[in-house]
Amino acid sequence: MLSNRNNNDFYSTNELSSYNNKSIDVEADTPIVVTTALPYANGEIHLGHISSTYLPADIFTRFLRISKKKVFHVCASDDFGTPILIKAEQEKKTPKEFVEYWNKRDLEDFNAIGISFDKFYKTSSHENQEFVQNVFNKLRNNGHIYEKEVIQFYCDFDNKFLPDRYVIGTCPYCKSNDQYSDLCEKCGRVPEEILDPKCGICGKSPIKKSSNHYFFKLSNFSDDLKEWLTTNNNLQVDIKNYVLHWIEEGLQDWDITRDLDWGINIPVNDAKGKVFYGWFDNHLCYISTFNTLIKEQFGKDGKDVWNTSTIYHFIGKDIIYHHFLFLPAIRMGINMEYKLPDYIPVRGHLMLHNRKISKSRNWYISLREFISTFNPDYLRFYIASISPSNQDDINFDWDVFSSKINNELIDNIGNFINRTLSFTKKHYDGIVPEPGIYQDEDQKGLDTIMTISSEIEELFKKTETDKVLKTILKFSNFFNQYFQKKQPWSDKSSAATTLYISINAVRVLAVLLLPFIPNSVEKIWSQLNNNNKLYEESWDDLSKLKVQPGHRIGKISPLFKKIERNEIEKEKTKLGTIS
Ligand code: 2FM
Ligand code: ZN
Repeated sequence: MLSNRNNNDFYSTNELSSYNNKSIDVEADTPIVVTTALPYANGEIHLGHISSTYLPADIFTRFLRISKKKVFHVCASDDFGTPILIKAEQEKKTPKEFVEYWNKRDLEDFNAIGISFDKFYKTSSHENQEFVQNVFNKLRNNGHIYEKEVIQFYCDFDNKFLPDRYVIGTCPYCKSNDQYSDLCEKCGRVPEEILDPKCGICGKSPIKKSSNHYFFKLSNFSDDLKEWLTTNNNLQVDIKNYVLHWIEEGLQDWDITRDLDWGINIPVNDAKGKVFYGWFDNHLCYISTFNTLIKEQFGKDGKDVWNTSTIYHFIGKDIIYHHFLFLPAIRMGINMEYKLPDYIPVRGHLMLHNRKISKSRNWYISLREFISTFNPDYLRFYIASISPSNQDDINFDWDVFSSKINNELIDNIGNFINRTLSFTKKHYDGIVPEPGIYQDEDQKGLDTIMTISSEIEELFKKTETDKVLKTILKFSNFFNQYFQKKQPWSDKSSAATTLYISINAVRVLAVLLLPFIPNSVEKIWSQLNNNNKLYEESWDDLSKLKVQPGHRIGKISPLFKKIERNEIEKEKTKLGTIS
């Protein structure tokens, strides 16, 4: 197959980020902070993660970078919690070794699909540990923490206090079976007490034991949360409404400690053998990672930058409760030292052939496996083309995937680029010709170039990626028809004008597609032989005719390879039964 896999193809996160931010005066303009939900450091990244969180955020971030905004995309591995401890034990590794392995591997996978972070750090970093302990102390001084004896599930067989994820039972609200005791995946609520509990490790019924725990008074913040939710008009309305409904029903205070030895220590003398619950420390890592980045890049205190920035937290819909209630309440509880999010883009789940993705049922596609066979940009293009800017679930279907790639990416976009550049190579020795008189069709082409940036900008800002892609396809389709109508192969008199306009349209198309298929756009850029680096391009120049007559284009080769029927059949067979 045509080699689409080359690890060096994606420009590195660091190169991009340092280029993008080096000329920045962090105090003068409004920076944008983009965070993406932290992946647990205990398993491989799959297509569901990419689609619900990282790709929408990366497309948005790349758009901001090309718009010359100061953007900081931060993420980290979520290193603590019992599942990680148990898996490390099973693999005979220390939890530290275990999470280091996954932190590195996750980042490699993200790089391979072109997810470009400014910093990818870890919740176990010393900066995060200190930050979390400070936040706890401040909450305690502000009267938002209290101690209480709790009766907890304990498995006599496994000799462990069982954390929420390891107690499975029936949701007390919607009565769904097989739900975690800290989250009902059916109704999205956090059960106060799960019914008919079973140990998630051995399946036996656990006993109850008493232990002293620290609680965060979430209920102190009901009014402030309500006020924030109703006045922040950037939040998705339907989500806002059901979070408001949860508040109306009454918020439960939140146990933020666990009897474990893998986690962040509680900075209190008699709290030996206890650590913070992972959901207390992980979202604080958005801030501590950002602070570390700002210190590294600018030698400044991150707090000031954070508070003058627009903040986006990209998440999947299963963690709404945590991001719309716990996270803002904790920031409120430390006197808003760090401002609340301006936007929380929430996306739905990715279904696989209309069934819920499940690793335990082996109904998933790992990212590694996917990109060992297909161009990573194919996945980015396909997912982006079916991703609305709301939390509706979307569906991965191998047949639709192949038809989108073959018909839209290759037959429409690839075809226009290739025919334009090949024609220039063949008939003009690779040199962009001087245009002649503009006819009506040419004028329409020029107008299409002039108006595309304003048409797309608003959609990008609203993170409506599917609509942006549709508009780009319309643009490319227009130019395919333009080329066809102008027939440069027979109408020699206007061929130079046709080619001049088409080559400029290829450049515009490349810039438009950069957030979606960055790897392929690098190739288009080198075929155009533009003398600037892609990341130096600016959205403001999008509608300019920047490729000048006399410019020599580079070496031309096909950008994409069509997906064959048998490749898709092979993937379907690997997956097993598709009903
Ligand atoms: O649900 C998860 O996969 C968590 N690891 C997400 C954490 S996001 C956070 F840090 F707020
Ligand atoms: Zn057990």
